[in-house]
Parts: sequence; C-alpha cells; structure tokens
Amino acid sequence: MTTPLPITKIVNARKTTKAFEPGRSLTPEQSAAVRALLRMSPSSTNAQPWHFFIAKTPAGKRAIAAGAAGNFAYNEPKIMNAAEVVVLCARTRLEDAYLTRVLDQETQDGRLANEEARTNQHNVRKGYVQKHEAAGSVLNWTARQVYIALGFLLLGAAEIGVDACPIEGFDCKAVDTELGLEAKGLASLVLVALGSKSGADFNAALPKSRLPESVVITEL
Ligand SMILES: Cc1cc2nc3c(=O)[nH]c(=O)nc-3n(C[C@H](O)[C@H](O)[C@H](O)COP(=O)(O)O)c2cc1C
Repeated sequence: MTTPLPITKIVNARKTTKAFEPGRSLTPEQSAAVRALLRMSPSSTNAQPWHFFIAKTPAGKRAIAAGAAGNFAYNEPKIMNAAEVVVLCARTRLEDAYLTRVLDQETQDGRLANEEARTNQHNVRKGYVQKHEAAGSVLNWTARQVYIALGFLLLGAAEIGVDACPIEGFDCKAVDTELGLEAKGLASLVLVALGSKSGADFNAALPKSRLPESVVITEL
C-alpha cells in the first residue's frame, strides 16, 4: 500500500488513462470511495440534481458501450476494459416530490432545526428551480452540478490509486435510450471509466500540457 500523494501533487501527477488492463476490479474500499466521491460532491442549494449508474459487469458495460459506436468507437475499449464505468446523469426536471425528498433528508440529517428553517430552505431552493424553469435552463443548471461531481471523482480517483478516463465522446442519446433515462427524468452527460492502466496507455508516458498561469489566471 503506497502512501497517497497530497492533493497539491495529485493535480500535477494525475493523467487521463487511455487504455485499461482488462479483467481488473477495484477493491471494495476503492468502490466505496468512488460512490462517496460522487454522493458527497457539493451542489448549488444542496439540490444534488444527479444520478449515477455504475457498471461493473460485462452486460452493464455493454449497455453503456451502446453509446460508443461510429465516431466514438475509439472509446469503446476503455468502457469494456475498465473495472467500473460511471454514467454521470443530470436531472432534467426538479419536481416538488424530489425537492421534498431532499428537504426530508436534510431534516433527517439534523440540518433543519424547526419548521421555519425547513420552509426557508425549501423556498430558497425552489426559488432557484423556478428561476431556471422560467429561463428554460434547468438542465443547464443541473448539468453544471454534475460536472462538479466529475471533478471530485477524477481528483479523488487519483488519490485512491484508481486510474480514470473521463469520456464525453459518446452518443448520449443512445445511452439514454439504452438505460431508459428520459422516462426517469435523467440525461446522461459524461462517463468515467475506472480501473488500472495497461501498457497501451500512451498518455502515461506523455508530459502534461497546460496553458501557463499568466494566460488563464488574472489577479485583480
Ligand atoms: C469532460 C471531459 C471529457 C473528456 N472526454 C474524453 C474522451 O471522450 N475520450 C478520451 O480519451 N479522453 C477524454 N477526456 C480526457 C481529456 O482529453 C484530458 O483530460 C485532457 O487532455 C487533459 O489531460 P489529463 O487528464 O491527462 O490531465 C475528457 C476530459 C474531460 C474533462
């Protein structure tokens, strides 16, 4: 067991894995950590407007690989050879029943001391939802929260020694159909393949490339 790197080192060390060793599994601890990284990600108003499907079996991975045909075929081996593949989905609508479910959880977890606190919390969250409903931007908003979970997962995976490949190169409509997501009020946005890199992972030997700080950061 190697000592995990501090996060300041992980940001420089982690790389997208372009090829996975087939037949590998995550340890139970790693699998549990992946689930915690997703579930514990922060979101605006704590709305948690997401759902994550995780495929570990060949059948589950094949269902996701339905989105990796044609132009996206280059991502198919990553999906099929990964130990686990996460489909990160956004909620396409935030109905009252769902908002009440979140509110009940916050009450159960001890965050809302009384009925007034509960009402205030609901009104603030509902206000955001209504604003985005009026602007037709609910999915845009929920999707931005899902990408926070993506960032948590990519950084966290490196910390727990799991190699990862984020994948936007897939046919999300095909995956939505395969998993029946429209009826569930969900839309797939991005995948993350997780596992162990193979010798064919050309990215492992390449240097990282980023624009310099002077280009992307301005101090005010
Ligand atoms: C949202 C997102 C989507 C990506 N989609 C793909 C993809 O479909 N296939 C792939 O091989 N890499 C994909 N990548 C990996 C990027 O190419 C990679 O993160 C980038 O080149 C920076 O390299 P690094 O992750 O090794 O630091 C994606 C990365 C992100 C963040």
